[in-house]
Parts: sequence; structure tokens; C-alpha cells
Amino acid sequence: MQTATSTYNDKVVLQFSVMTVVWGIVGMLVGLFIAAQMYWPALNFDLPWLSFGRLRPLHTNAVIFAFGGSALFATSLYVVQRTSHVRLLSDKLAAFVFWGWQLVIVLAAVTLPLGLTQGKEYAELIWPIDILIAVVWVAYAVLFFGTIGKRKVKHIYVANWFYGAFIIAVALLHIVNSLAIPVTLTSSFPIYSGAVDAMVQWWYGHNAVGFFLTAGFLGMMYYFIPKQTGRPVYSYRLSIVHFWALIAIYMWAGPHHLQYTALPDWAQSLGMVFSLILLAPSWGGMINGMMTLSGAWHKLRTDPILKFLIVSLSFYGMSTFEGPMMSIKTVNSLSHYTDWTIGHVHSGALGWVAMISIGSIYALLPRLLGQKEMWSVKLIDAHFWTHTIGVVFYIASMWIAGVMQGLMWRATNSDGTLTYSFVESLAATYPYYLGRFAGGALVVVGMLIMAVNVIRTWQAAKGPVAYPVIAPDAAEARA
Ligand code: HEM
Ligand code: HEM
Repeated sequence: MQTATSTYNDKVVLQFSVMTVVWGIVGMLVGLFIAAQMYWPALNFDLPWLSFGRLRPLHTNAVIFAFGGSALFATSLYVVQRTSHVRLLSDKLAAFVFWGWQLVIVLAAVTLPLGLTQGKEYAELIWPIDILIAVVWVAYAVLFFGTIGKRKVKHIYVANWFYGAFIIAVALLHIVNSLAIPVTLTSSFPIYSGAVDAMVQWWYGHNAVGFFLTAGFLGMMYYFIPKQTGRPVYSYRLSIVHFWALIAIYMWAGPHHLQYTALPDWAQSLGMVFSLILLAPSWGGMINGMMTLSGAWHKLRTDPILKFLIVSLSFYGMSTFEGPMMSIKTVNSLSHYTDWTIGHVHSGALGWVAMISIGSIYALLPRLLGQKEMWSVKLIDAHFWTHTIGVVFYIASMWIAGVMQGLMWRATNSDGTLTYSFVESLAATYPYYLGRFAGGALVVVGMLIMAVNVIRTWQAAKGPVAYPVIAPDAAEARA
């Protein structure tokens, strides 16, 4: 019989994996609903808690922190145990992290529709919830780094470096950006003001992209792509260069969100230059992930999980090319305030973040349930195609709409007056909002297909399996 310490703690991994699917469906349904409101505004039913302004932050919080967050917790806690050859530091702490994070999500789902917000994008939650987030996050850090600390191998696998950076950076960003003076239980004032407040907010906002929506998912890439292909990472040296370059550069690029604002001009230019430099490590990482497949490309034909993982990297490459271009001031003067930004966001979010998460969960879940693979590989393939076509519909609609809006807003007649009124640009955008809704609907259908597959896999299994901790082999222990 296995004792508790000689097996991995996969309970918390399984809990977070299932919640990834649940919150993915909820968050994307809210996204679909607000996409529908943009086309059929009557769908707010004149109810304040169903209004676009309140549901939009609910969508972003649900998809980023509930869906993306659960995928990051699940995979990081799985990877750190397997690559350190030890059980998690503490089962109680693991349970606290799981239930604490679920409480944060439920509190967000209640307060945001009620209109309780700090008004800072991606940091809307009111101060008592912010404190809870900080406590849960510190517990997560202790759990993760404590497990690394008691590892049985000298080496710390590169995926853990990315997860570790994500954990430390998010703690720093959250605490600095949330510093506020409470006035009542539900309201507070930030300690920063004016342009400084804006700069701190977008230092946070951009690095939330860099560390919450990128670094942790790169950790997933470095573990699940080699596992799924059965080959080692293409270049371990490149992965180390990738790590340090990304960490060093991301922190300085935030001002690209504040081009042509009251921020000093030199800071805007600095943000632009660092964004352009960021292209290099981003693509270095993408190439490292893709090339891991060299010699095994044929597997893409038959393995839909691999398709999810590799296509996610294509979207990562696309959005990290587009981002630096959009940070160039002249390009930003066209793209800012338009749906082009929304297209960019979702090529990163639905293409990169969602696809790598979905692929990793498909790889992980059957293992946790003692199954060789998911109940239906055909359904994974169906999910892959519905998702991919949905994303392409979504982002192509937004790109066309965005460039069109930018051009219409800046068009002038020979006498200097505007060629188009704002309402004319809105009317021209309508068909594209329908296109986005159709794309979003396909993505949601894909998530429902995933839910069916998860339920069936669960039914086919006898229940969660406790795997014995694998002793590191002698060669690895010497390294
Ligand atoms: C079915 C899938 C989805 C649909 C239909 C959808 C729809 C939407 C809509 C309509 C908006 C508001 C756009 C606006 O204000 O003009 C939005 C914003 C946003 N969504 Fe989604 N979304 C989906 C999935 C996701 C996922 C999976 C993520 C992240 C992992 C995500 C992240 C965001 C972010 C960060 C914003 C704010 C963008 C900004 O402020 O520029 N979405 N989404
Ligand atoms: C080299 C990498 C990247 C650079 C340099 C970059 C640059 C930019 C720029 C210039 C904007 C427009 C700012 C504005 O006009 O308001 C933007 C917006 C955004 N990007 Fe990226 N991007 C990168 C990668 C990504 C990735 C991979 C994701 C998602 C996973 C992402 C998510 C976002 C979000 C959510 C916004 C909207 C922020 C908001 O206004 O609410 N970006 N990015």
C-alpha cells in the first residue's frame, strides 16, 4: 500500500483541471453574451447588472483568472511534483490554495455585476478581495517553492523557472498596483494619482499579459510539448536565454498602452523600444517549442492534442509580432481605441492561452484518472477544428473592423472637416460584430464538446489514481 508521502498529490491538480473546463465555459459564455450585446444592444434588458460595462470585467476576470488561472495552478502543481520527484510540500496548503482561489472567483462573480469595482482594468476587484488574493497567492508561492526546495534532483527543470517567475511577478504586480486607502468596506482610493497612477496601472496591465498570460503558459509549453512529442526540448540553452531575456525586457514595455497620453514622451518611446526588442525572445521561445517537433512532425496528423499545442504556438508567434508593431507610435495612432486591439487580445487569449491550456488539460486529465487517453480522440479533433475556425472568425472580424474604424476616424475632407461621423463608423462595424459573435459561438461549442469528453472519461475511469513518486535515476541525481 502507498503511504501519503510516497505518492504525488494529484487531487489538487485534478480539482483545478476540472475547474479549468468549468470556468472556461462560464467565462467564454459571458464573453459570447457581451459580444451579442454589441450586436443586439437590447440584450442588456435595461438591468444594471446585465449591462455591458459590468459584464465586461466579469468576462475578463473569469477567463483570465478563473479559466487561465486554474489551468496554471493545475499544470504548475503537476509539473513541479513530476520534475522535482517529490510530493507537494503540504496537502493542507494545497487545499487552501484551491478553495481560496474558488472563493476569490465567486466573490468576483458577485461583486462585479453589482457594480463594485476599483475601475482599474484587470485589477477591478475591491480591496477586501485584493487582500484575499494576496493571501492565497503567498500560500501558492510557499507551496510551489517549498516543493522545489525539497526536490530530489539538483537541477530545476526550465518549466519551473517560468512558473516560478510567473508566481513572483504576479505577487509583486498585484501588491504594488492594489495599494489603496480603504474608505468603506467596498470602496477605496489608490495611493497614486494622475499620470503616475496610469503608469503603475499599465506597468501592472502589461506585465499581467507578460507573466500571467505568457510566462506561466510557457512553463506549460516546456513540459507538455516535449512530453506529448516524446522528444527533448529542441535547445535547452535557448530555453535559458529565452527565460532571462523575456524576464529582463517585459517589465519595461508597459508604456506602450499609454502612447499619446499625459505620460512623458521619453517614457512612451522607451515602452515602444522595449516592445520591439521583445519580439526576439518571444520568437526565440516559439521557435524552441516548434522545433521540439523536428523529426516528429508526422505526429501532428494523428494527435489532436499536439495540434492544440503547436497551433497555440503559431498564435503566440502571431500576437507577439503584432504587439511590437502596434507599439510603434504611428501604428498605435491608428490601432488604439479600435477593435484591432480586441483582435490582438483574442489572438493571444483564445489562440495562445486557451489553446495551450486546453491541449495541456487533454494531456493531463486521462493520466490523473488512470486512463491511457481521453474517452474520444475524435471529439478532441472536433474541438480543435471548431476552436480554430472560431478563433480565426473572431480575430479576422476584429482586425478588419479595427483598421476600418481607424481609417474612418482619421479621414478628412479637403476643407479639414471629418469625412465620417462616429455613428457611421459604428454602423459600418455591425457586420463584423456578427462575425465575432459567430466565431465566439463556435469556441463555446468547442468547450461544450470538451465538457462531454471530460464527463465521459470520468465515467469510464474507476476514479482518481494515486501515482507513486518516481525516484530520480542515478544520472539525474548526479547532475
Ligand atoms: C468565446 C470566447 C470569447 C468571446 C466571445 C469573447 C468576447 C469578448 C468581448 C465581446 C469583449 C469586449 C470587447 C470590447 O470591449 O469591445 C472581450 C474582451 C476581452 N476578452 Fe474576450 N472573449 C472570449 C474569450 C476570451 C478568452 C479565452 C480570454 C482570455 C484568456 C479573453 C480575454 C479578454 C480580454 C483581456 C478582454 C479585454 C480586451 C481589452 O480591453 O482590450 N477573452 N471579449
Ligand atoms: C511581444 C509581445 C507583445 C507586445 C509588444 C504587445 C503589445 C501590445 C500593444 C502595443 C497593445 C495596444 C495598446 C493600446 O493601444 O492600448 C496591446 C494590447 C493588449 N495586448 Fe499585447 N502585446 C504582446 C503580446 C500579447 C500577448 C501574447 C497577449 C495575450 C496573451 C496580449 C494581450 C494584450 C491585451 C489583453 C491587450 C489590451 C490591453 C487593454 O487595453 O485592455 N499581448 N499589446
